Amino acid sequence: MRHGYPLMVLGGLLFAIMFFFYAAYPSLTIGPAQPIPFSHRVHAGVKQIDCRFCHPYVARSQDAGMPAVEKCFFCHKYIIPDHPEILKEKAYFERNKPVPWVRVFWVPEFVFFRHEPHIAQAGLDCSRCHGAVKETDRLGRVKFEMGFCVTCHRNMGAELDCWLACHR
Ligand code: HEC
Ligand code: HEC
Ligand code: HEC
Ligand code: HEC
Repeated sequence: MRHGYPLMVLGGLLFAIMFFFYAAYPSLTIGPAQPIPFSHRVHAGVKQIDCRFCHPYVARSQDAGMPAVEKCFFCHKYIIPDHPEILKEKAYFERNKPVPWVRVFWVPEFVFFRHEPHIAQAGLDCSRCHGAVKETDRLGRVKFEMGFCVTCHRNMGAELDCWLACHR
């Protein structure tokens, strides 16, 4: 019986850890809930809308940019205009507010990333870095680590002097 107590504590601790992962699991794998449950699978996959229609600055500036609310109504003025989620979108539109989309892809604070050389010069497909966006309903969180940049730069013979090129 003398060993019973520590074992119970250990068991309890294990249970707590497992419960934590069980509870946190959905948000770790399918990503955060968005203010409007926008689906890339429906739009970029099934309907084959070009990525650049909604992220137009991807080849030109540092940020790919989030679509302006007006963009959605290019179609949704006619397509399912009374869908409850489209009505929510409309409320943002009417109040002239951008939708507070939750950011899911990011790099560490000190890293300097621009899409432009990757798209305009290297001609890389979006999926090389963002994965199967077209097949995803809810994008998951991805933090790009250094190794991700360096491995590809090495394989493709791109700039490796990252302390000059990639850091702020
Ligand atoms: C080029 C046309 C087009 C644009 C632009 C567009 N959509 Fe859609 N959207 C569609 C079509 C087509 C459907 C499928 C409608 C159906 O199921 O009948 C759809 C479905 C939806 C749905 C329904 C839910 C679902 O997953 O079936 C939501 C919500 C939605 N869109 C949100 C948005 C938002 C937010 C934007 C702007 C960022 C946007 N859409 C921009 C064409 C568009
Ligand atoms: C109809 C408009 C539309 C199209 C087409 C579209 N997107 Fe998006 N995209 C959005 C909206 C709205 C968000 C914000 C909500 C979200 O994260 O799902 C977003 C978010 C993203 C993000 C996450 C940005 C972040 O850090 O939060 C990436 C990456 C992305 N899109 C890539 C793509 C790629 C790659 C394609 C083409 C295969 C594409 N998108 C096509 C509207 C669109
Ligand atoms: C070489 C890798 C790479 C490629 C190729 C790439 N991206 Fe990205 N993308 C990133 C990284 C890294 C971030 C995070 C940047 C940050 O946090 O500053 C990002 C962020 C984004 C975002 C978030 C919002 C923003 O403005 O930063 C969107 C949207 C996006 N990418 C769309 C696209 C689309 C669309 C394509 C294809 C036309 C594409 N990306 C191709 C690496 C890539
Ligand atoms: C899938 C491959 C790939 C990934 C992943 C990638 N890069 Fe690149 N990157 C390239 C290629 C190829 C070039 C060269 C483009 C050209 O021809 O100028 C480049 C160019 C650059 C440049 C411009 C260098 C110069 O010549 O001025 C910077 C800065 C850069 N990348 C930073 C990053 C960072 C930061 C990351 C990670 C967040 C990253 N890259 C991820 C392939 C990649």
